[in-house]
Amino acid sequence: KNGYEHFMLKEINEEPDVFKKILNKYIKNDKIVDIFDISKYEEIEIVACGSAYHAGLIGKYYIESIANIKTTVSYASEYRYKKHFFNKNSLVIVISQSGETADTKEALKIANEALLDTLAIVNVYKSSIAREAKYVLYTISGIEISVATTKAYMAQCLVLLLLALNVKNDKKLIQDLFKIPNLLSKYINRDYKKYAKIISKYDDIFYLGRGVDYYIAQEGSLKLKEISYIHSEAYAAGELKHGTISLIEDGTLVIGVLTQPALYEKTLSNMVECKSRGAYLMGLTTF
Ligand code: BG6
Repeated sequence: KNGYEHFMLKEINEEPDVFKKILNKYIKNDKIVDIFDISKYEEIEIVACGSAYHAGLIGKYYIESIANIKTTVSYASEYRYKKHFFNKNSLVIVISQSGETADTKEALKIANEALLDTLAIVNVYKSSIAREAKYVLYTISGIEISVATTKAYMAQCLVLLLLALNVKNDKKLIQDLFKIPNLLSKYINRDYKKYAKIISKYDDIFYLGRGVDYYIAQEGSLKLKEISYIHSEAYAAGELKHGTISLIEDGTLVIGVLTQPALYEKTLSNMVECKSRGAYLMGLTTF
């Protein structure tokens, strides 16, 4: 464990190096290199489970907003039960840390049998999913022992961003990416114990966000449930008022994810409504 109490902590602390490693592999002279070209596809469907599914949502945000390609995200566990409208000009991206998740393997099989192009974004070298997909990109995060993924989830999001940036080169954004490893080190080493202490007092926690913040909220909520066994839900902030607000009361913790300046006020107003019902508020922002 390299001196850390848990593998998960060790792996979180490896994130800055993993981030750097991926940038150095796929970016040369401010240009994306040696990555898969998604520009020829009319549509992209991302299929995955758990945190990999949440990375897929972030990927949808990047691919649609940067590369301008329509992208849908499906749970691999639902894939064989749903009706498919396959478009021959579409790409199916499967995401998996282990490369062995049965539902994701099954979804990949369906896409392969439909003769669609398939791209696997996986961490484990030569895993089943890496071998069975037509194309493969590795997240080169090193071994991840903790079942709850951390560094590999981050790597999946980054590889998806690079796929999008490969279509529309944004030099400024590419240069800015190199600042992130130091920022990650700075924030990882902040004292989160005091926040954990507050959170541990609650039995019901709601994460709220809009757009990409909602996608981040979903991963935050899953991690909290999986690691702390505290009940938690992620909600699209504007949907809360349509019924679920009745669950917000004294003793509920509401964590707002507020990383987009344009949507800050909107989400904040939903949080204020929760406060008026007795909820305790916490906010997570990047500006
Ligand atoms: C779950 C793990 O069981 O499997 C998650 O708890 C993970 O962390 C999910 O995201 C999917 O696994 P994989 O290996 O396909 O990414």
